[in-house]
Amino acid sequence: APESAAAFDPPELFAEPFPWPRTAFDPPELYAWLRERRPVTKVTTRNGQEAWLVTRYDDVRAVLGDRRISSDIRRPGYPKFGVFPPREEDRPFIWMDPPEHAVFRRLLVKNFLARRVEAYRDRLQALVDGAIDRMTAGERPADLVRALALPVPSTVLAWVLGVREEDQGFFNTATEHLMNRADFTDPHALERAMKAGMELRAYLDQLITEREAAPDPGDDILGQLVAAAREGTIGRNDVVNSGMLMIIAGHETTASMIATGTLVLLRNPGHVAELRADPGLLPGAIEELLRYLTVVHLVVLRVATEDIEIGGQLIRAGEGVIPLNFSANRDDAHYPDADRFDIHRPAKDHFAFGHGIHQCVGQSLARLELRVVWETLLRRIPTLGLAIPAEDVPVKLFSQISGVSVLPVTW
Ligand code: HEM
Repeated sequence: APESAAAFDPPELFAEPFPWPRTAFDPPELYAWLRERRPVTKVTTRNGQEAWLVTRYDDVRAVLGDRRISSDIRRPGYPKFGVFPPREEDRPFIWMDPPEHAVFRRLLVKNFLARRVEAYRDRLQALVDGAIDRMTAGERPADLVRALALPVPSTVLAWVLGVREEDQGFFNTATEHLMNRADFTDPHALERAMKAGMELRAYLDQLITEREAAPDPGDDILGQLVAAAREGTIGRNDVVNSGMLMIIAGHETTASMIATGTLVLLRNPGHVAELRADPGLLPGAIEELLRYLTVVHLVVLRVATEDIEIGGQLIRAGEGVIPLNFSANRDDAHYPDADRFDIHRPAKDHFAFGHGIHQCVGQSLARLELRVVWETLLRRIPTLGLAIPAEDVPVKLFSQISGVSVLPVTW
């Protein structure tokens, strides 16, 4: 049971508003302290709101599986640090509740079924081989972020969504600016993020207008969305909003996993040797990397619609809730010695993709991308190594999707 208020004597960091800085690999130490001493606790966020932090694995799962917990950003209690609430007509389905939310899941899910995703494997292999060819033909050291981590997910998104591959550079910059909006250490972050958001939206709008004018809107996701709007299942704004969401959700997330995951692997040569000797270990290693890094660590945010008890704590209707997936993924009660990176541990039940009805719709595609990238990288560049000390790799401390901005490698 939670201790009495008098016995609650938290480390200094607790006096700072939420979020607190993580490193490339590890959550703020305060998470472990809270899991132990005050697993569900009220904090003040950087924009002056109050919200409940939920830190234990079982409690995070309970929150994300409960229909009394909402994703609707329009509700006043929804934690909005770093987030500018969209205009009503700009709200994508990640911020919707059932039954509205289910309309979009039903529309999209077929694009991410195992068979459908597996069909990209050969193209993906050629894409990754090409990127590695160019990298190894160029100068040493190379930046793995620009050579591999950004272009692979960006190109794959262009395939599934149906956006033009040649606009990849624009995408890379715009989505990165958009995701760095929570970085309060940079006074221009929010302004740049809003500009990037407007540019992306205008770009998508133009693509959609082209599809609408065509007799057959096409079989990719944009085409399917345009067709659904024609039938009246969704509105035209929903087509743009869903496209925006897919670009944002599918790009920097996967790019960050590729870059930061490679950094973890390069710091663990023993694991790399094992993976080279037995590539069958890779799928398990990918789940462990997803768990260990939890790069999407400040995105899963909620609000209670009714009074609800979580971990013995009463949360009132209307109050904000932050189910910390990064903390849950490091809970020793669920993953023994959770701070240790171990490719042999069963990690598949992690919350790196969230949990419940909003659980990442693109996860099968993300897993395939990670698999092809690391399988190929380890096989083709046996001498791959960091070109600078791991501590010097620049980390995005407060971005809602954590990551490294460059990863200098050599071979
Ligand atoms: C949702 C993580 C890749 C599309 C989510 C959520 C997380 C997540 C944590 C849940 C948000 C919430 O509950 O509020 C990741 C990670 C990825 C990844 C770690 C890469 C390693 C992708 C890809 C796509 C994608 C490749 C699409 C091509 C989406 C969409 C949602 C989502 C559309 C919203 C789902 C909904 O609200 O029902 N993702 N994602 N993600 N993701 Fe991913």
